[in-house]
Amino acid sequence: MKVKIIYTSLTGNTKEAVDVLSDALTDKGADVEAFDGDDGIEVADFFTDADAYVIASYTDGDAELPDGIIDFADDVEDADLNGFNVSVIGTGDTSYDDFCSAVDDIEGRVKEAGANIIAPGLKIELAPDDEATEALKQLAATITSI
Ligand SMILES: Cc1cc2nc3c(=O)[nH]c(=O)nc-3n(C[C@H](O)[C@H](O)[C@H](O)COP(=O)(O)O)c2cc1C
Repeated sequence: MKVKIIYTSLTGNTKEAVDVLSDALTDKGADVEAFDGDDGIEVADFFTDADAYVIASYTDGDAELPDGIIDFADDVEDADLNGFNVSVIGTGDTSYDDFCSAVDDIEGRVKEAGANIIAPGLKIELAPDDEATEALKQLAATITSI
């Protein structure tokens, strides 16, 4: 199966989570293609030829979406994602009021666009620890079982 991931990461935590997920997916035999949101891939070009799609983002500002994913997330609102399998993950910091709100924000837009949510949004505290690594491996198992 093929899995496409789009992510944005400023200080590396979300990228680390994406790397753990990618490795776990690869271990389960998936072909993984990851895109940095800063490279500006269009929604129409991202949602094309894969069996499952992952969107990964940290939370910025006051519960805001980061610059690296905001345009993509805005375009998701106008897309028709019926029939697409999507999972949203993110990192955040529990010292902020709205922990990982970007995950809920993006997942809401993806659902609104009609996508099938593969698994509930995965929220990770900063860089993935052992528990988060396990959760990412579990997500990889869920994705590869669809
Ligand atoms: C200016 C700023 C605002 C932030 N706001 C939030 C927030 O509202 N909620 C949250 O959970 N984390 C917030 N964070 C924490 C980051 O989301 C967290 O450090 C994340 O792991 C960074 O991901 P990255 O290393 O992939 O860039 C904020 C961080 C910064 C620097």
